[in-house]
Amino acid sequence: MRILSGMRPTGRFHLGNYLGAARNWVELQKQYECFYFVADYHALTTEPDGHKAEDKVFDLTADLLAVGIDPDRSVVYLQSKVPEVAELTLLLSMVTPLSWVQRVPTFKEKAKLHPDNVNLGMFSYPILQGADILMVKGEGVPVGKDQLAHLELVREVTRRFNRTYAAVFPEPRALLTETNLIKGTDGKQRMSKTVGNIVGVTDEPGVIQKQVMSMVTDVKRPRKTDPGHPRQCNVCAFYKYFFDDWEHYWELCRKAQIGCYDKKRLLAERIIETFAPFRERRSELSPEAVNSILDVGSLKARDVARATLREARRAVGLPAYLDR
Ligand code: TRP
Repeated sequence: MRILSGMRPTGRFHLGNYLGAARNWVELQKQYECFYFVADYHALTTEPDGHKAEDKVFDLTADLLAVGIDPDRSVVYLQSKVPEVAELTLLLSMVTPLSWVQRVPTFKEKAKLHPDNVNLGMFSYPILQGADILMVKGEGVPVGKDQLAHLELVREVTRRFNRTYAAVFPEPRALLTETNLIKGTDGKQRMSKTVGNIVGVTDEPGVIQKQVMSMVTDVKRPRKTDPGHPRQCNVCAFYKYFFDDWEHYWELCRKAQIGCYDKKRLLAERIIETFAPFRERRSELSPEAVNSILDVGSLKARDVARATLREARRAVGLPAYLDR
């Protein structure tokens, strides 16, 4: 099975990215042929300052490499270095009824978040995503729940293309990352840079410490001497990821034998310690090294993309490229 997934370079890599996605990507590359990319075209739909994107591309790529995405096993590339994806988006858009895209809930949400910049690229976002996947004939797509509507649309478009022209593409399926929703420091919303409720992964210990200490805990426990409700507490939720004996801490919390402050202090320590090797590996990555990894990966992805596009163009009835 061929795997493909991407992440937008929109800000500092955080716990939600790691626990919800990257951790799973690292596992998948042990078994499958994987394509992982930085979705800088997609980022332009909400952050039009392309010229500022370079640092963010470096940051995200370096973080992915630091947490274990291995360019010797997986093809690690930058979306915009494989511009064939834009041509495939165009071809797919011809078999995509407007009404199918209008149904996608994320467009409405994004339009609400960025009312001054509701653009066509934002609207056709899931078709570009489909082109990412189909371009390499990806079969398994590890994503979070928020992406399921996109995947469903991509599957429909794939079937329609194959039916209309020729069976060029395998129908991709979502590989749901099982993790529960990773909530941010506010304990309410999904962890996201836009909301500003993140906890870093490769950031300096002092930064992570501060972010964890700012976490909202059990609101129904006004005093340390009151019994806690670990099920409703976001800090306790994180214990499940970072402590094998999380049940022990949950019990202490229930019996009011550990306070919220101490729980956060321990969690911060544990996160910093767990990610220390990532932080170290990241500090060894120079922009040149990261760029050269992206260049090599993008050339590989491009070879695959061009072969697929040749097939797709032939299926549609367009002439071959001139470069034979
Ligand atoms: N839309 C995805 C997100 O916001 C990122 C993405 C772009 C992606 N292209 C993709 C994910 C292709 C999987 C496959 O998280």
